[in-house]
Amino acid sequence: MNLRIPGPIPVHPRVMAAMNQPMINHRGPRFSAIFGEAADGLRWAFQTAQEVLVLTSSGTGGLEAAVANTISPGDRVLSLSIGNFGERLRTLARIHGAQVTALDAPAGQPIDVSQVRQALHDNPPFHAVLVTHNETSTGVTNPMREIALAVNDLGEVRPLTIVDAVSGVGCLPLPMDELGLDVVVSGSQKAWGLPPGLAFVAISERAWPVIERCRSPRFYFDLRQARKSAANRQTPWTPAVGLIFGLQEALLMMREEGLDAIHARHRRVGDFTRQGVRDLGLQLFANPAFASNAVTAIRVPPGIEAARLRARLRDEFGQEVAGGQGALKNDIFRIGHMGQVTEADIQPVFDALRQIL
Ligand SMILES: Cc1ncc(COP(=O)(O)O)c(C=O)c1O
Repeated sequence: MNLRIPGPIPVHPRVMAAMNQPMINHRGPRFSAIFGEAADGLRWAFQTAQEVLVLTSSGTGGLEAAVANTISPGDRVLSLSIGNFGERLRTLARIHGAQVTALDAPAGQPIDVSQVRQALHDNPPFHAVLVTHNETSTGVTNPMREIALAVNDLGEVRPLTIVDAVSGVGCLPLPMDELGLDVVVSGSQKAWGLPPGLAFVAISERAWPVIERCRSPRFYFDLRQARKSAANRQTPWTPAVGLIFGLQEALLMMREEGLDAIHARHRRVGDFTRQGVRDLGLQLFANPAFASNAVTAIRVPPGIEAARLRARLRDEFGQEVAGGQGALKNDIFRIGHMGQVTEADIQPVFDALRQIL
């Protein structure tokens, strides 16, 4: 099966081999050495000198940790949503008692940065801005540099910037420190090419006093505990040791390729995918200027049933693509192209689509 959904993605044989090892003591020196190396690799990939904490959870757990550790009941947050995952982060903030100001963009569009500036200036102060880096449900990448600039222009009193980069960081550029981002979250089954089960949460120096003061309840996801343990290259609770073996190897492979080369390859494969869609006479869903280089959303042609199209791709041609989410369920399908991917992985999807259509 050619797994072409936007996560989980195929796991490289080198990473599978690394995970296929006897279990070790997660409180012993060998684990600490591996965990320490992985943490260094994550700092490199997140382009940050700050702490990147590793949690045993899916990406949503990382987002919940981000919110539960920074947002106290009553805090005012500006929530920027361009799709399903933006909505999810907003829901998390509401559940933790935030007073949410919502700013949305129509599906397929990025956030309008002038509206962000206006919201920040019209109604200050905000405690945090919540934003999705790469909206996997629509295949749109937000203009993170411009959004970060709008926040950073507020200077010392600026809100924390909390970023759902679950499907973005590690394959699309998001230099955390350069952009002054405060909390950046990712998940192991995306660009990193691991099975699901780990969340990565990078935290700025500026965010730590907020985390210390935060009044929201937290235990498993208490980032203060995770930080304390990370200083000893451990985790507070029993970690997914097998995935940490894989993470060490995955990051080694990423370092061998280089971050710029990884980003360039994703641009290239993104261009290739969009061109392939046009060549088939199909329509892209995302605004082309903000189309994601990690996932492409394609409109289902009129008269074709989305679920049946995907079932035929899977059952007759061995090509597994993703459907639309929520309101877009019958309108789009999505091809994932993040991680260890080249044009040769995408071409069979187009070959199959050509025959079906
Ligand atoms: C942008 C984004 N945010 C959050 C999530 C949720 O991650 P998980 O399914 O690992 O909990 C995903 C997963 O698809 C995602 O793409």
